[in-house]
Amino acid sequence: MSQVFHDIEKKIISSLKENSKQSPESLEKSTNLSPDQIRRGIEWLKLKDLAIVNESKTSLISLGKNGLESIEKGLPERQLLNSLKNGPKKLSDLQKQLGPVFGPAMGLARKNNWVKADSDSISLNNEPAEIPAEKIIKQIGKEKIPKEKIDASELSVLLKRPDFVIEDIVKTKEITLSDSAKTLELSDSSGAIDVEAKVPQVFVARTHPLKDTIDEIREIFVTLGFSEINGNMTQSSFWNFDALFTPQDHPARELQDTFYLDGISAKKIATPEQIRKVSDSHKKNWRYQWDINEARKMVLRTHTTCVTIKHLAETKPDEARVFSLGRVFRNEKVSYKHLVEFNQIEGVVVGKNATLRDLMGIQREFYKRIGITKIKFWPTFFPYTEPSLQTMVYNERLGKWVELFGMGIFRPEVTKPLGITKPVLAWGGGIERIAMLKYGLDDVREFYNNNLNWLRSASKCQ
Ligand code: PHE
Repeated sequence: MSQVFHDIEKKIISSLKENSKQSPESLEKSTNLSPDQIRRGIEWLKLKDLAIVNESKTSLISLGKNGLESIEKGLPERQLLNSLKNGPKKLSDLQKQLGPVFGPAMGLARKNNWVKADSDSISLNNEPAEIPAEKIIKQIGKEKIPKEKIDASELSVLLKRPDFVIEDIVKTKEITLSDSAKTLELSDSSGAIDVEAKVPQVFVARTHPLKDTIDEIREIFVTLGFSEINGNMTQSSFWNFDALFTPQDHPARELQDTFYLDGISAKKIATPEQIRKVSDSHKKNWRYQWDINEARKMVLRTHTTCVTIKHLAETKPDEARVFSLGRVFRNEKVSYKHLVEFNQIEGVVVGKNATLRDLMGIQREFYKRIGITKIKFWPTFFPYTEPSLQTMVYNERLGKWVELFGMGIFRPEVTKPLGITKPVLAWGGGIERIAMLKYGLDDVREFYNNNLNWLRSASKCQ
């Protein structure tokens, strides 16, 4: 199990590993932490069962006023003995010399036979080497010493004398590590914050990866100077097929490829002129009986090219850079690369000097911006463009080339009937396929599975 420790805790634990029993004061010294930090750190460790705190009472002994005085001058009895070193002295002189300590000093000296008293004078009898009380005073000095370190019977004697020694009862804490703390491995980061510490994973709300890709594509188009155009998802067959020079018997128009809105026909599909000219183009070039009822049939748009052509027929621009983006529908068998509904992006450039080279150049630029570099162009066929090309991109995951964008220059059979006079470069393709490449997926269906694990792990920035 990996635990996260505050730096304070780590310092305390390491110090206790080196020196197993410590007081808070000694921990302050060894860790360089403040008393407050030590107090808090010990509390935290105690709560986590990592530290054990033993509280006990100890008596500390230090010198009182008279004891401190004795360090310099000697104990009263020693003062008395010293003053007799050069011979006997009169009692009254000694009394004067020693002042208030004379009484006790004399009492002790006599009791221990250190002095002899004649009728009028006092003289040394046998001078003791070291008096026990002296030993104790020397031992204590200016410190506070635990009572048990001092000879108990001698101390009790000294304790009876006024102000020589002071006894303080203090509470002491002794900190040790619990068994579980002894085996802890601490990461040796020394900063105040461990930026590599494990944290619980939090899944915040996020946009869907496919939505991110759509936004990115929109952004690229806008940056390249294109403006967005929009169209309906339901369209008359006229705009989805006829206006795009797709003959009425073309296989793409069959039920198994296209979703028709059952029994719904558009009343007004286009201007009478548009209808006449488009139908003429079909009759003249494809040589068949064009049927307006076929053109009225409503479909779920099968591509965004219907949005393009409708826009161009309405605006008849000499120059334009537009794009459209949205759902399209195809009655296809769902597979790792086919969905029944998916998103398409479509770009259009209109200009009197627009050429196929420009079209390929724009493709390369777009792919580069989206992060795809391994591409090639293949010739292909669309009823509405000539020449027609297809970009193939290499899908590393699938290990094969997959078709991405269809493109070409709109045929005059498409543009002329609708009054569009300048060359039109157009290209379009599935966004899910691009997103698959970006997210390294080998199945488009993953975008619609709502698999939370994948959605959470798909990175925002590729
Ligand atoms: N509409 C074509 C498709 O859906 C793509 C395309 C768009 C081709 C514009 C040529 C020009 O695949």
